[in-house]
Amino acid sequence: MNKISIVGAGRVGESTAQILAQRDVCHDLVLLDVRDGAAAGAALDIRQSAAAHRFDCRLTGGADPALLAGSDLVIVTAGSPRKPGMSRSDVLNVNRAVIDSVVDQVLEHAPDCMLMLVTNPVDVLTWHAWKRTGWDRRRVFGQAGVLDAARMASFLAEETGISVRDVHTMVIGGHGDSMVPLTRFSTINGLPVTTFVDEKTIEYINEKTRHGGAEVLEMRQHSSAYNAPAAAVATMVDAINSNRDRLLSCVCVLDGEYGQRDITAGVPAILGREGIRRIIDLPLDETERRGFQASVDSIVNDIKSL
Ligand code: LAC
Repeated sequence: MNKISIVGAGRVGESTAQILAQRDVCHDLVLLDVRDGAAAGAALDIRQSAAAHRFDCRLTGGADPALLAGSDLVIVTAGSPRKPGMSRSDVLNVNRAVIDSVVDQVLEHAPDCMLMLVTNPVDVLTWHAWKRTGWDRRRVFGQAGVLDAARMASFLAEETGISVRDVHTMVIGGHGDSMVPLTRFSTINGLPVTTFVDEKTIEYINEKTRHGGAEVLEMRQHSSAYNAPAAAVATMVDAINSNRDRLLSCVCVLDGEYGQRDITAGVPAILGREGIRRIIDLPLDETERRGFQASVDSIVNDIKSL
């Protein structure tokens, strides 16, 4: 890609910018934030790591929405993070206003880009952004499942003592307590997870996965997770940038898949240069289907309250 913009120079935005710069994924990288100095300062700081990391990627930061012009991809991390004890839905109304204004700026300055939502509650806000743009659903998607699957993989690696490189996991549904870790579709280098762990351990891992973000927040108190979220965003950027057609769990607009329409949820999808190329409609068993439906119901509830 020629130009990527990150809206929101908070911890997730800044960490994402650092990873993308280090990987030299694009020619121009923009950090946009209503706090002009925060964005400009972060861009300056990261630019000064270029000699050590040997990258040419040009970073600019500021508050002027015109900085978005010419972006191939806009990643939205702006908004209020939740505080300890809050659910992601508790920040819906304040973040919805943020997304409204960001989407309007994108429509004005970068009407041809792809839009990746990261701000929580990400499923609902991806749906909201998609509606507001009126764009093809392939171009508007969100990051959640890559992070949730990475958390599940790290717990599985810890429990089995096997390298996380060999652990492949899949998490679908909403990015909240009702997310659905799919043990049946997760493997350790092709071998069923049940070869290595018993039912009780699987339940423990699934529970840890569902509360992965909350656990970090509880420990830190003053900050949500940002290292793993930024790494997950970078994974999706790489899939798009190198046109890899990777199979990743992404927040997608559903149009008949999983029996759902006009709704967003995390589902496995093929991600490449054009965005979401294809959604994989997994044959869920009864328990998985019920879990997924419960997750969709909670997203629908939040959408109704918009
Ligand atoms: C998390 C927040 C960022 O899962 O949603 O860590």
